[in-house]
Amino acid sequence: MSGTEESSIWASGQRHPRWQRDDLYAPEVLQHPAKMWPSIARAAIDRYSRPAQVVLDPMCGIGTVLIEAVRLGRSAVGVDCEREWVELARRQVADATASRTGSWGKVFSGDAADLATLLKEKRLRRPVDLIVTSPPYGSVTHGRPKTYRETAGGVQSRDKRYFTGGAAHPAQLATSSVRKLTAGLERVWAECAAVLKPDGVLVVTARPFTEAGVTIDFPSLIVQTAANAGFALSERHAALLGRWTGGLLRVHATFFHKNRVRALHQAGEPSFLRVHEDVLVFGRAS
Ligand SMILES: C[S@@+](CC[C@H](N)C(=O)[O-])C[C@H]1O[C@@H](n2cnc3c(N)ncnc32)[C@H](O)[C@@H]1O
Repeated sequence: MSGTEESSIWASGQRHPRWQRDDLYAPEVLQHPAKMWPSIARAAIDRYSRPAQVVLDPMCGIGTVLIEAVRLGRSAVGVDCEREWVELARRQVADATASRTGSWGKVFSGDAADLATLLKEKRLRRPVDLIVTSPPYGSVTHGRPKTYRETAGGVQSRDKRYFTGGAAHPAQLATSSVRKLTAGLERVWAECAAVLKPDGVLVVTARPFTEAGVTIDFPSLIVQTAANAGFALSERHAALLGRWTGGLLRVHATFFHKNRVRALHQAGEPSFLRVHEDVLVFGRAS
């Protein structure tokens, strides 16, 4: 951080993310390992775009950014490389647009590294006003535990993956080494620059992650890769991942997650509970 960017703290965790996802979110969204919190998507869309503008998420997962954009009177375009998330996002976005006149939403299957070509093929030639996205990190994240009632044999918690079928899509960045992820993200930001209006804004949310016992400073990696693709960081905010109450931050994490972090920490692994997500805001470098 250079120290010159505008910064603030977003109270994004006053409600648990499960309660933030209401009727427009299908129960299957729980299978996705790394969904954005609707409150963070809403805050970004509300701050950096206006009604009737077009919001894009090039790695859209189950479509949180798209759903919240439509709800706020914007139109939305999403891309994901995994067909199952595309189908889920498409269904949910169709439900969201059905109750909103004037907003449209489209979700495509593809590689974000080919974004400009993909959107041109789909006849979406108008540059987008805002891009909001949360890139993939690490190949697994901690999953929701299953209860006795669901397993009939004890409480279980398994890691969730970015794909549930046989294998990940070849373009899947979550399964890449950090070196490949870095190169892949740089290509994605370059494609974002090609489809964004000259005065458009790119918002990326990220948190550090641990890979083989090493903490990766993912927010810094994003700032660097975006700079290499011609973006300049203009604002940096901290979106809280817990409820601020009585002078304390109560982090929304499961017992299993807290337990695992505690065990890793005691074993000397650099693992901590994350209390915020970085919200990195970029404009074009002049
Ligand atoms: C952190 S998740 C995004 C979650 C999303 N914001 C939501 O709320 O559901 C990252 C997504 O990027 C997708 N992805 C990974 N590599 C990709 C690529 N090369 N092109 C398009 N999507 C990709 C993954 O399949 C995953 O769904």
